[in-house]
Amino acid sequence: MTDLSPLLEARYGTAAAPPAAAPIAAANPTLETLLRHKSTRAFLQAPLPPGTLELLAAAAQSAATSSNLQTWSAVAVTSPPLKSEAAVLCGDQEFIRAAPLFLVFCADLARLGAAADRHGMPPGDGLAFFEMYTMAAVDASLAAQNACVAAEALGLGACYVGAARNRPRELAALLGLPPRVVALFGLAVGRPDPAAGAGAAVKPRLAQDEVVHRETWGSNGEGDGGVEQRQAANLAAYDEALAEFNTQQGRGDAPTWTYRSAHRIATVESLHGRDILRQVMEERGFELR
Ligand SMILES: Cc1cc2nc3c(=O)[nH]c(=O)nc-3n(C[C@H](O)[C@H](O)[C@H](O)COP(=O)(O)O)c2cc1C
Repeated sequence: MTDLSPLLEARYGTAAAPPAAAPIAAANPTLETLLRHKSTRAFLQAPLPPGTLELLAAAAQSAATSSNLQTWSAVAVTSPPLKSEAAVLCGDQEFIRAAPLFLVFCADLARLGAAADRHGMPPGDGLAFFEMYTMAAVDASLAAQNACVAAEALGLGACYVGAARNRPRELAALLGLPPRVVALFGLAVGRPDPAAGAGAAVKPRLAQDEVVHRETWGSNGEGDGGVEQRQAANLAAYDEALAEFNTQQGRGDAPTWTYRSAHRIATVESLHGRDILRQVMEERGFELR
């Protein structure tokens, strides 16, 4: 591949793909890995090569981290019985059972309490604020994404599991999480099963000008009929692009993206149990002031 155009076209559709301006968009293994990303939900049961977990952890720990506070932890679950129990708590998703490694990424403010302890200081008031939870959630997400990209760069597949928040009390108990540690999401990792995943294409995304605003919010709509019209056109185009993708993947009956998204926010039930998250976090020592 001499440039990244085909990968950009796969990500946005031919009409909406941004130009692959040479020379910056010349083939580059890091960019190729990023642009080729797709979630893997079918794994071979073969164990991962020795050292894989350690390499993924090193990639995760190489992510930038706010004030170098490193306010995250991950629990690496490989034991089949434990993984199976975790899978049940995480929406009973079969691919978690099949993956040889299930990483549960956590916001971890307990370590800062321990640091304060070393200096004979009680955990200060600062720990009690929603800001500290936000910092930990951002740190954990950056670390996890590094691990995900590292896995894909090694030819492995991965899928995030937000359903790790469906039954937060039970998952914390299963994994033995201490106070001030809460599971945010999982990442199932393994060798992609070629039989199941063969031919799977990358999933298109919204048009770039829907998510990237130049200089100020909404500037993309100027002279273009206004922000709302541009957004309406982008959503309609994306419904079509995703419908085409779903048809190619044999899921022609899937609802459109806007319909599915509307249902995802329609009721408390659509949160699949995650409506208790704030309460559970308070129980677990996150004050969220
Ligand atoms: C935080 C997070 C949680 C997710 N949780 C789940 C999940 O529980 N089950 C699942 O099958 N996919 C899950 N996904 C995967 C998304 O559905 C997927 O990334 C999205 O549909 C885009 O597809 P792609 O990753 O193949 O490009 C999650 C993704 C993220 C980022």
